Amino acid sequence: MAATKGLEGIVATQSSISSIIDDQLTYVGYDIDDLAENSSFEEVIYLLWNQKLPNEEELKNFKEDLVSNMEIPNEIIEHLKSYDLSTVHPMAALRTVVSMLGLYDSEADEMNEDANKRKAVRLQAKIPTVVTAFARIRKGQDPVGPKKGLGFAANFLYMLNGKDPEDIEVEAFNKALVLHADHELNASTFTARVCVATLSDIYSGVTAAIGALKGPLHGGANERVMKMLTEIGEVDNAIPHIKERLENKEKIMGMGHRVYKQGDPRAKHLREMSKELTKLTGQSKYYDMSIKIEEFIKEEKGLPANVDFYSASVYHSLGVDHDLFTPIFAVSRISGWLAHILEQYDNNRLIRPRAEYVGPKGQTYQPIEKR
Ligand SMILES: CC(C)(COP(=O)(O)OP(=O)(O)OC[C@H]1O[C@@H](n2cnc3c(N)ncnc32)[C@H](O)[C@@H]1OP(=O)(O)O)[C@@H](O)C(=O)NCCC(=O)NCCS
Repeated sequence: MAATKGLEGIVATQSSISSIIDDQLTYVGYDIDDLAENSSFEEVIYLLWNQKLPNEEELKNFKEDLVSNMEIPNEIIEHLKSYDLSTVHPMAALRTVVSMLGLYDSEADEMNEDANKRKAVRLQAKIPTVVTAFARIRKGQDPVGPKKGLGFAANFLYMLNGKDPEDIEVEAFNKALVLHADHELNASTFTARVCVATLSDIYSGVTAAIGALKGPLHGGANERVMKMLTEIGEVDNAIPHIKERLENKEKIMGMGHRVYKQGDPRAKHLREMSKELTKLTGQSKYYDMSIKIEEFIKEEKGLPANVDFYSASVYHSLGVDHDLFTPIFAVSRISGWLAHILEQYDNNRLIRPRAEYVGPKGQTYQPIEKR
């Protein structure tokens, strides 16, 4: 048995949720370009969970269902207030709080389909509230609860900033959520599926997925892209800075992809948004240096920009703290995790691969005094 490093190219399951074929991403057969231009994030969640777009009434009910489930238990808010959050990464807080939410859900271990769907709505609805409550509490501000009548994207920005967002901010944020919602069998989604394939509960699956998303080779890349852009500081420094990183054998965050070799179809939308928003906020230099880096890495290494590269300057332009970029990825990707968890339950088999053993063989136990 020979191992395939990183399971590259291994087809591990069948799925009807999203596909990457010829470098194009689709959700349930709808091209991501079409959805990014036309759909709301709520429509996309509904699509991923139900394999069809909602009609008007279904969408209205679904939106209401989400907003009415956004509140989080006061005990959790008090719990967050009891920590010194100045040194806590928001992804660690999110991972912990999502797990805690299971303790407040009387249906947490109820495994029938209806209960799992109800829990999916609760989790999807509460995750923006957790992220924004954390962000405010650590600044000494009181958390702001959801506002009825606002959609999902608008509610996130409202709960984060405590004021109604501008239309252009909502539009940009909605598009970013749509683009990050699902991505076939990426590392965090696979983690979620492995976890629930043991017939563990939804809260465990999502908690495990958050842990996987946190890593810099996955969702953690967008925060590091912004750190790099901030360090670069000025457009003229971009190429020398990147050359130095490459000489030091460092990976350039936001570049390269396991599956896309020509280009990540999500990146062009974020590139456009970055251009527009950085211009609007007088920070075009971040867009300009990103373009230079993208061209240079493409030429030098043949690597395309991925979804994380331009999302960094987009979220920065929206005034979001840099360490909240990955939690925002989670606010969107949880829709895909939940779709995959429901699909896994629906046709479950334990996921249990094998390992190629390369350690020593034939050893015999030695008493401790002889070692
Ligand atoms: C996404 C990623 C993990 C996928 O890579 P992968 O399929 O596992 O490819 P590997 O890490 O094995 O890299 C293959 C080669 O390309 C190089 N490479 C890949 N991504 C690179 C990057 N971002 N910067 C510089 N070199 C890179 C590797 O150094 C390696 O070169 P080598 O063969 O000379 O050692 C990788 O491109 C990466 O680490 N990117 C940066 C992190 C990131 O943006 N993650 C978000 C993904 S959406």
